Amino acid sequence: MIQRVRGFQDLDGVAAAAASYIENLAARVARLYNFGEIRLPIVERVELYQRSTGETSDIVEKQMYVFPEGEQSEQLIALRPEGTPGVVRAYLEAGLDRSNPEQRFFYSGPMFRRERPQKGRYRQFHQFGVEVFGRSDAVCDAELLVMIDDIARFLNLDVTMEVNSLGCAECRPAYRAALVEWGRAHLNELCEDCHNRIDRNPLRLLDCKIDVALTKQAPGSLDFLCEACRAHFAMVQRLLKATSIEFVINPRLVRGLDYYTRTAFEVLSGDVGSQSAVIAGGRYDGLVEALGGARVPGIGFAIGIERLVLAYERTLAAPSSARLHDKAHDPDAVGAVAGTKDANGSRRVDAVVASLGDAAIERAFVVAHELRVPGGKAVELASPERKLKAALARANKIGARYAVIIGDTELTRGVVQLKDLKAGTQREVATADLIDEMGATT
Ligand code: HAM
Repeated sequence: MIQRVRGFQDLDGVAAAAASYIENLAARVARLYNFGEIRLPIVERVELYQRSTGETSDIVEKQMYVFPEGEQSEQLIALRPEGTPGVVRAYLEAGLDRSNPEQRFFYSGPMFRRERPQKGRYRQFHQFGVEVFGRSDAVCDAELLVMIDDIARFLNLDVTMEVNSLGCAECRPAYRAALVEWGRAHLNELCEDCHNRIDRNPLRLLDCKIDVALTKQAPGSLDFLCEACRAHFAMVQRLLKATSIEFVINPRLVRGLDYYTRTAFEVLSGDVGSQSAVIAGGRYDGLVEALGGARVPGIGFAIGIERLVLAYERTLAAPSSARLHDKAHDPDAVGAVAGTKDANGSRRVDAVVASLGDAAIERAFVVAHELRVPGGKAVELASPERKLKAALARANKIGARYAVIIGDTELTRGVVQLKDLKAGTQREVATADLIDEMGATT
C-alpha cells in the first residue's frame, strides 16, 4: 500500500468543512476591510526567500523544498514556505510601488516547510494572509489586530493576542547589541542552536526552546525603542483600548522571519499542542525596498488554517455554542454583499472614514469598526497622517460611495459629516444613525 508522505495530511469530514468555513469567513471579513484577492504561484525563486524571509531564518536555512527549475537550469526554485515574499514580488512586478503604492491584498493556499511534524505542525499547511502596502500609520496596525479579533470572535475562539514592537533600523541595533551581550553572559545555559544565533541572528535567542525561563530574563525590545517607534506603539495600544480588544504586551516576542519592524504579534491558542501560534504577523517597513522597490512600508498577518481548525474544534464541541452552518455563525451573514463587484467589475467599498486632528482618531477607529461589524459595510480607514484632501482622493480612487469625516467639533457633538461621493452632497448625521443613513447594503 502506498502511504501519504510524512508531514502531509488528508483532510476530510468535519475538519475539511471547518477549514473551508474558516477560509470563507476570513475572506468575507477581509472584504469588509477592503482587501482584494490575489492568487499567486506556489513556486518562486529561492533568492526571493533568501532576501526576505532571511538567510539566517530556520525556514530558509533548513526547511524549504528546493529544486532546479529545469534539467538545464542553474536556477533554484522553492515551494513557497510563506506568502508574504510572493505578494511583494507580484506587487513589484506590477510596478505598483511607484504607480499606485497603497494596496490591500488577501490570499490563501498551501505553504510548505520541511519541519519536524507534530500536532499542529505539518510540512504542507494552509495560510490565509493579508498584506497592506503604503501605510506607515499606527491606525493600520491596530486595524489588522481588530480584524483578527473579529475573526476570532466569529469563531468563538479562546485565544490570547500578544503584541510587541521590534523597533526600526534606527533603534534595533542597540537592542541587538544588548541581546548579544546577554547571550554571551549566559552562553553555558543556552542551547546549541543559540550558540549559532548569537552573532547571526541574536533576536532568535528569545526563541530558545531549551531554557524558556532563562529567556524571560533577557532584555526586552521595548526598553530600546526610539521616540518615533515608542509613539507608534503607544498609538496602537490606544486604539486597541478604544475598541476594548484584549491583548497582552510581550516585550520578548520575536518572529522567526527576518523582515519585521515595529509592531509584531502572535495569536496563541492552548488547543494546538506546543505549536501555539494560530495567527501571526507584523510590520515590514523595509521589505519592499530590500527586494528592489521604492521605499514603501508594509504590514500583514497570516492565519494557520490547520491550527485554527484545531482551536475551532473546541467551539464545535461545546454544546451551547456555534456549530458549522449555524445561522448565527454563517459567514454568508458577515457583510451580506460587502466586497462584491459592481457592474464595472471593480470592488465595492461603502465608505472611507477619515479623522481630523488627534482627538478624533479613536472615534474614527471605533466608527469604522461598527460600520463593518455589525454594520456589514466595507470600510477603509484613512491614515491620520494624511490631509483630508488626500483621504477624499483615495476614497474616489477606490470608488467608495461615502466619506465619513470626523473632526473636533463632530467629536464633541456626537455627529459625523457624511459625504455622498456619488451625489456630491454632504450632511451632518448623528453617529448612532450612521448605518441607517448610509442605507442597507443589500
Ligand atoms: P509565520 O509565523 O511563519 O508567519 O506563519 C503564520 C502562521 O502559519 C503561524 O502562526 C501558524 O499558524 C501557521 N504555520 C506556520 N508553520 C506551520 C506549520 N509547519 N504547520 C502548520 N501551520 C503552520 C508568516 O508566514 C508570515 N508570512 C505572516 C505575515 C504576513 N507577516 C506579515 N504578513
